[in-house]
This record gives sequence, C-alpha cells and structure tokens, in this order.
Amino acid sequence: ELKVDLKAEKKAISTDLVGIFYEDLNYAADGGLYAELIQNRSFEYSATEQASWGPFSFWDLVESEGGKGRLGLGNARPVHVNNPHYLLLNVEAAGVGVGIANEGFDQIPVEAGEAYEASFWAYQAYMGRKWGGAQEEEEQPMPMLARLENEAGEVIAEAEFLIAGREWTQHSATLVPIKSTDKARFVLLAQKAGGVAIDMVSLFPHDTFSGRKNGLRKDLAQSIADLEPKFMRFPGGCLVHGQGIHQYYDWKDSVGPVEQRKAFRNSWGYHQTLGLGYFEYFQFCEDMGAIPIPVVSAGVCCQHAGDSPNRGQEGLPLDEMPDYIDDVLDLIEWANGPADSEWGAVRAAAGHPEPFGLKYLGVGNEDAITSIFKVRFKMIRDAIAKRHPEIVVVGTVGPFASGEDYDNGWEFSRELDLDIIDEHYYVEPNWFWENQQRYDAYDRESAEVYIGEYAAHEPDRANTMRSAIAEAAGLVSFERNADIVRFASYAPLLSRRGHTQWRPDLIYFDATEVYPSLNYEVQRLFSVNAGDFALPFRVSGLAEGKKLAASVVHDSESADTIVKVVNGESEAISATIDLSSAAQRQFRMRAIIFAHEVASAVNRDGEAPVAVPEEESGSVGSRFDRSFPANSLTILRLR
Ligand code: AHR
Repeated sequence: ELKVDLKAEKKAISTDLVGIFYEDLNYAADGGLYAELIQNRSFEYSATEQASWGPFSFWDLVESEGGKGRLGLGNARPVHVNNPHYLLLNVEAAGVGVGIANEGFDQIPVEAGEAYEASFWAYQAYMGRKWGGAQEEEEQPMPMLARLENEAGEVIAEAEFLIAGREWTQHSATLVPIKSTDKARFVLLAQKAGGVAIDMVSLFPHDTFSGRKNGLRKDLAQSIADLEPKFMRFPGGCLVHGQGIHQYYDWKDSVGPVEQRKAFRNSWGYHQTLGLGYFEYFQFCEDMGAIPIPVVSAGVCCQHAGDSPNRGQEGLPLDEMPDYIDDVLDLIEWANGPADSEWGAVRAAAGHPEPFGLKYLGVGNEDAITSIFKVRFKMIRDAIAKRHPEIVVVGTVGPFASGEDYDNGWEFSRELDLDIIDEHYYVEPNWFWENQQRYDAYDRESAEVYIGEYAAHEPDRANTMRSAIAEAAGLVSFERNADIVRFASYAPLLSRRGHTQWRPDLIYFDATEVYPSLNYEVQRLFSVNAGDFALPFRVSGLAEGKKLAASVVHDSESADTIVKVVNGESEAISATIDLSSAAQRQFRMRAIIFAHEVASAVNRDGEAPVAVPEEESGSVGSRFDRSFPANSLTILRLR
C-alpha cells in the first residue's frame, strides 16, 4: 500500500529539478548541435587534434575539365589573429573551374526547396598575375562559383561571386537545391587563372532552431527542448578544465564574430570551432526557458588518479590567477552587465542588449579536492562574492559522490559556506536502488545539491530499460528530497553515431536522424510531470529488497497530486493507492505508463522505440488498487 498524507504540511521543493548537462564530446557541437554543414571551415584542423589531420583535412582539390591548380596554406595576413590559417588557391589553368570541395561531417544532407546560406571570406591573392605567369595588363576580379552537387555529380544549386581587391571580404549567397540528397558535396570554384585567398567557408541552413542565425540544428535542438529542461549546465565536464595547465575552455574565445573565435583541440581529442559558443548557449537557454549554468575552470587542470598528494593535478601559477579571475568576472559582466559596459557591449553587439540574467556559476568540475584546488577555488569564489554577491557559485565534491574527495569537498563547502555543490555519479543500475535513502540523510543546513552528472551504467554501457528505470528510481529519490536537491542532470546528453567516445548518452544522432534513448523518455517524463511541493507518504507491505520506489508531489499550477511509482522488478507489483486523507472522495486520474517487460530492451536506430509512454484516463476513488508493470515508471496525475 502507498498511503499519501494529504493533510500534512507540504514541503516546498525545487521547481527546477530536471535539466540538462551539455558537453561537447561525441561530436556534440561541431557536427552535432551546431548547424554548420562544412567541416574544417577555417582550415584550422591540425595534427595536435588527430595525427592524420591538417589544414586541408576534409577538403579536396577540384580541377574540372581542363583546370589545373594547387592548394597552399596562408598565414601571413589572416582574417583575424585568432583564426591564423587560410587557403591560397592558385589557379594555373581555369578550365571550367578549379577549387575545393567538402563533404561535411560524414555527409551533407540538403532538402529541395530549403534555403542554405553559402558564405566565405576571400581576397584576390595574386592580383593581375596568372599563376607562375607574367603580369596581366589589367587586374580583373576573380569570378567564383559555389555549388551543391548530389551524389550523381549533378549541380543542384549554384551561386556566382566576384572577388576583387586585397582586403578580406565576406561573400554570401542563398542556395536553394532543386533536388534533395543526404550526401551533397559543397564545391567552391575559381573560374580564371590567378589566385584567391579563402577562409571561413560555410554552408548553413536558414531553418535553425528558433530561426537563429549561426544557430542550432533544428531537429536535435528540438529533441532537447522537448525535455523542457529547467536549466542547462555547459560547456562541460572535463572540457572545462582541459587536460593541461592552459588548456581550459576560455569563454572569451567563444564570443564575438565567428571568424574571430579561437578554434582549438577540445579535451576529447577533436576540433572545436567555438562557432557554438557562450552567446549561442545562453540564447539556447533563453529559447528553451532554461536557467543557464555555465561552468568555469577552478584554475586547475583535469586531475588524474595517482599517489601524489595532488593526484596529478596542476594549477595555474598563482601570479596568473588575478587575470584569470578577471576573466571570470568579465563573464558575469558579459551576461548581466548593461549594454554600455565593456563586456555587456560585446553581448549587445551580438544582438542581445538585454542582460541574460545569469544567476548560477559553476566553478570547477570533478576536481580532486587538493590544496592546489582549494586555494584557487577560494580566490575565485571570494572575488565573485565581493563583486557579484548576487551570483550563486556552484562548488564541486570531486570525481565521485563518495570517498575522500567527496568528504573533503563537503567539508570545504561548509568552510566556505557555499550555497550549492555539484555531485556526480556514473554507477551500476542497482546503485540507485541501494541508495534510495541517500538524500534523506543530508543536512538541510548545509549546501544544496546539484547532481550535475549521473547515469546508470550497464556492464556493456547499453541504454537498457533497466538503466532507464534505475534512473527513474534515482529521480524519485531526488524529487522526495528536492528541498535540498535543487538540480539534477543526466550525462552525457548527445552523441553522434560514428563519433561516440562515451556511452551511454541520452540522445544519439547522425546527419539526418535523431535517436532518443529509453533514458531520454524517463528524463522527459519527470521534467513535464514535476511539482512544487513534496507530500509525505508511506509504503507498507512491500517485501524486503523489492525494487519499488515512489514520490508524491503537488503541482500548484495544475492543482494535480502527482504520484510516481517505479517498479524495477521483472514482474508486476500490485498496490493500493490510498488518498483517503483528502477531503474529496473521487479523483480524475490521468495515468502515464512507461514500461517494457524485458529489462535488457534497448531502442535501435531506425526502428520504432521499444517502449513509449502510454496514457489512460478515468476516475478513481480515494483508495484504489493498481498494478505496476515490470520495469516501469507509472505517473498518476490526480485531480
Ligand atoms: O560526462 C562525461 C564526463 O564525465 C565529464 O566530462 C566529466 O565531468 C565526467 O567525468
């Protein structure tokens, strides 16, 4: 029996419990959420990212019908100092055209009738000279073509350009393909002998999420928005602190005009253009109605387990900390400062004069709680508290939510009187069942908890129903304790097929499709069936060790009492739901059931999901019996 006490005092809980953690790993940004279709658009790929990569990776030289040319690498007068390399296209004989072609991230899908912005920066590199030849009498502009071709080599869209002069200029045109293809080739051709310098070659769909320029891939962003996340933590993860002392993610490199952003190797070993940067993250949060929770490095790089007291951790030299801290304070000004402040002006110039309303700032990610960390964290925290007492600093308890770092992390948070602290755990499914009472015991006078990363890991890391249901069990325990657990986010969020570095993830995708996992459905169901008060309840008559967990919340907006029951057993469990403490005798009920009888079931790409939530509605009395299926999450909305 599950008996709800509707007369007892309700406990106010976080209304922002379920959100997302976005990190650029598994090609989540470039080739993922960022809608850019060209790979290596600024010729900045390098062997430091992958041994076989270089500035011309993913580009081919095209010499069509009688054409002859060469690709050279320029660095003498770049578009911007942050974007040091560019292509020098030397055309000896133009033929029908000489240029470059790109097939994007594995492939470029385009749809007939849809608009795509083709753009590039260029200047005429060898004015008036034929390659290797004599000075021409008159300098003629370089005619160029941008084309989309399908797999058969047919031109399905084309635009013409004229490149003249020695100054970098951006050229753009809208391409509207006359045929659809999943495997287009983008071709840029120079049409006369001579030279042209080229950089920032881009093909961008007009149709992005919320219609934003330099925006997000619509279907993928929509699948995230459908989670109705109450917050978004970004941009990592390990990505934030990087693997070496100066490898941290510098938010300043990620804002401003895209050609001025500083692409570099991300800590997951591939290229990040930072075209998807802080402005785009904040804008995405705003578009979804999610609280932005950016995370900055605590001035230490990624810790590695080891025997030394600092476990491999290194910190920024202390004399560099003041500058680093200024950067963190500048971030707050960039997000919240008036449009005429130094950094608020950068935000305003990007099209957002209104402040973004930053409230939370994560400092550090899973850092070992060493003296190196503590000194630097405290310096950052103190500076923020002094200049921006309105900002809530989110601390960290180290790599796992137990053990030495965890204890030290909590002790340190009490020493500093932190408001909220971030715990992470990647654990086997059973852990969530064995730790149902974890947060019941947390001291309500200490910091609140942000469970910034968690997931149930099967031995083979598959996204099974068992793992999804275990996470549902975790979520009911968070919800019951959401007076102290303010935020919780599954991790990681995204993974591109063929570029998966970490499993399991919440949403998989390829160039054309999005494949949400079973775990995704659990997150969504909790997010859209949240409440603002927790109600006390008692479960009785349940055999020892049975995997059944529950929470009961009240949602003031709908006036619904929401009972969530998670059954992790391989058979159904019947229970009486007792609401007889209510004055009312009859309830209208909407039941949402997410279940699969096979715990090891997983969704397969291209096939219908193995389990989808089913709904039924009707009316019930104040005591009613109900069967909760094997491996299920059942949500009863009672009014
Ligand atoms: O979510 C993947 C990684 O797991 C994160 O980058 C890191 O914080 C954690 O170890």
